[in-house]
Amino acid sequence: MADAPLRVLGFAGSLRKASYNRGLLRLAQASAPEGVEIETIELNDIPPFNQDVEEAGDPEPVRKLKERVAAADALLIVTPEYNGAMPGLLKNTLDWLSRVPRNTVLRTKTAAIMGASAGGRGSLPAQAQVRRLLDIFGCPVMEEPVVAIARAGDRFDDSGDPIDDALREEVAAFVAAFVKWTIEVRSDEAAASG
Ligand code: FNR
Repeated sequence: MADAPLRVLGFAGSLRKASYNRGLLRLAQASAPEGVEIETIELNDIPPFNQDVEEAGDPEPVRKLKERVAAADALLIVTPEYNGAMPGLLKNTLDWLSRVPRNTVLRTKTAAIMGASAGGRGSLPAQAQVRRLLDIFGCPVMEEPVVAIARAGDRFDDSGDPIDDALREEVAAFVAAFVKWTIEVRSDEAAASG
């Protein structure tokens, strides 16, 4: 592990108080190994993307978001599945972050995606869309393991906290793999840049 802590910034594409996906993010935070900080950012105040507004200067919540992303080494994105797709909230957030394409703040990060849904696909269609966007931005995304919690109503309580140890273990293994992979990617990049 490097001397400086590895900084992960997480956000979830649900604003629901008892959200399964926000619960997954809390679980990831609780699973952070020593030397790794997982911080989170709320997306409530991110306005709908508007190029006129952008040209006049990023609104304060967007400026803060970009600043927090820029300060992080890695991103952990947690997505629900809305009508077989990622929620508009997440797409809108990623649209803001993608600007301007050649300078996107996502280019120098690594990312991992997880998610939960009430149905049987566990958010996988939404995860595939988030992955595709991050690919376009040039942000490497961890391939495996995959955390896609199907029938999430059976796995979380009414507060959005996990009810079984298997889920805790699955998320802890995911976070450990993400940290290991991020360190590998960063050291490969450092070697490549001399
Ligand atoms: C859903 N839900 C849902 N579930 C699913 O498995 N497949 C789907 O396509 C959809 N579509 C969908 C659309 C919209 C607009 C809503 C509000 C919900 C149900 C969804 O999985 C459930 O509400 C989760 O609780 C959402 O995630 P959070 O808020 O718990 O993180």
